[in-house]
Amino acid sequence: MTRFPLGRPARIAVLASGRGSNLEALLRSFPPGDELGEIRLVLSNRASAPALAKARAAGVDAVHVPYPDRATFEDRALALLDGADIDLVCLAGFMRILSPGFVRHFRGRVLNVHPSLLPAFRGLHAQRQAIEAGVRESGCTVHLVDEGVDTGRILVQRRVEVLPDDDEESLAQRIRVQEHEAFPEAVRLVLAGRIDATGTEVEA
Ligand code: GAR
Repeated sequence: MTRFPLGRPARIAVLASGRGSNLEALLRSFPPGDELGEIRLVLSNRASAPALAKARAAGVDAVHVPYPDRATFEDRALALLDGADIDLVCLAGFMRILSPGFVRHFRGRVLNVHPSLLPAFRGLHAQRQAIEAGVRESGCTVHLVDEGVDTGRILVQRRVEVLPDDDEESLAQRIRVQEHEAFPEAVRLVLAGRIDATGTEVEA
């Protein structure tokens, strides 16, 4: 079983379906030579995802893995991740649900960023859910991925105010700014060995 810290830079993979702004934040936070981790591989289920172009521009291997169905995607993704000896998987706007088998393969080593203060507003369109619920505060959560949907152990949360004239996009944009700090912070917590494989915080 993989235990952090590894005593060498962890090999990090990022799965992303879209824009890739969280990927960019991770690339900035883990430049080549970082002691804790390096982004070694980016996978996307969408060939046209800007995240793939951003990874390639940063000199990182980036592969489109088609998603005709979950099993086909995961077989190929697992082969690529294991082939690259990946230690940690970051879901950065990856808009598909991973199977329990995939999650077990990387138990305690898959992190997701979600645009709400979990456990509120799980699933799709979390920002729209927050606006429709009329809450005054929302934010983002970085959590370990377990077999449920947005249910794993919470590592880092950041709050933002929901303004009276917010729409889904303006709220999403304000939340993203916080995600860009929260995600690298959570990755560092895990890689530094501050969270054990069961998701429990280790005494400092
Ligand atoms: C982020 O806001 C992330 O929280 C959300 O997708 C966006 C990706 O942005 N993820 C989910 O909703 C997952 N359920 P990005 O491509 O610019 O990083």
